[in-house]
Amino acid sequence: MALTAVTRKSQLRRPSLDLGEEVVHRPVLLERFLEAAEPKPEEVWVDATFGSGGYSRALLARQCQVLALDWDELAEGFARELEEKFPEKFRFFRENFARLGELCRKMGFAWVDGVVLDLGVSGLQLSDPTRGFSFRTVGPLDMRMDRRLPLSARDLLYGASLEDITVLFHRVLDLRESRKLARAVVMARERGRLQTTTDLARIAEKTLGWRRGSRIHPATRPFLALRLAVNRELDYLPVALREARDVLRPGGRLAVVAFHSLEDRIVKGFFRGEGDLGEGLPRDPGRKVGWFERVHRYLPTPEEVASNPRARSARLRIGWKRG
Ligand SMILES: C[S@@+](CC[C@H](N)C(=O)[O-])C[C@H]1O[C@@H](n2cnc3c(N)ncnc32)[C@H](O)[C@@H]1O
Repeated sequence: MALTAVTRKSQLRRPSLDLGEEVVHRPVLLERFLEAAEPKPEEVWVDATFGSGGYSRALLARQCQVLALDWDELAEGFARELEEKFPEKFRFFRENFARLGELCRKMGFAWVDGVVLDLGVSGLQLSDPTRGFSFRTVGPLDMRMDRRLPLSARDLLYGASLEDITVLFHRVLDLRESRKLARAVVMARERGRLQTTTDLARIAEKTLGWRRGSRIHPATRPFLALRLAVNRELDYLPVALREARDVLRPGGRLAVVAFHSLEDRIVKGFFRGEGDLGEGLPRDPGRKVGWFERVHRYLPTPEEVASNPRARSARLRIGWKRG
């Protein structure tokens, strides 16, 4: 089944970066993924987090057909380029990956051979100060991966109560720190001193200080908590995992790269079948009968971490669906 060519609605803005260069986004754990998941010619794969297309390109190089998704307009620019180059093999949708199953069906695929989810933000998003993901550069407090989402980080922080902001930070900080930071945020917003990424970074630095012996900037966790809330990342992830599982053929592979423990916990629990064993399968946790026959975890090599610091906290899990 070949992927059909697309109708282009508009000329999309292409990022002014060299597509062939790694400056765009260096995909993490890609080699491990290729070795372990072994994508084969003519297999159908879903790259649910296209970014600037590192995984998609590798799958196309192995002559797979690729259905790619990403909700960021930046990704769309790169994807249209690939659609031109591989009209029969590659198709992109600017959509939330929570709609993965529906999009596969729309394309006429009752099942696929593999799905890959490389979670989080891309290097491209992080390095664009206008997106507000980084606390190292001045930018608007935005953090929406998809600018069609209704609320930016600023909207969230200005619209929420002290209690809600405390709960938001408590995902990544202890209760005392969350309360302190939430109070400081509310005070700053009352004085109109919470407008940019660096305003928030300064508040975090002043309120939380550096943890003893830690090299992690005090704003790292609060920024992560906000990004997760703005994009509802921990809500969409379990939906996408279930959608992926349902659209995989028996023996198909689901590969997920996670970057922090909150998302990795969801992925791990999902593969274990926690609270969600296959219908009709024995509900006996001792037997570990679930949707996946085997699941393996892969970590980056020291060489990969040395050459790509983003890989440091990455974990790849691949599950082979039960036949
Ligand atoms: C780490 S990057 C992927 C990088 C990509 N593998 C590459 O090689 O360039 C994660 C991508 O997933 C996208 N993303 C995150 N959550 C999403 C969601 N719910 N729906 C669609 N795309 C999402 C982000 O916009 C981002 O481009």
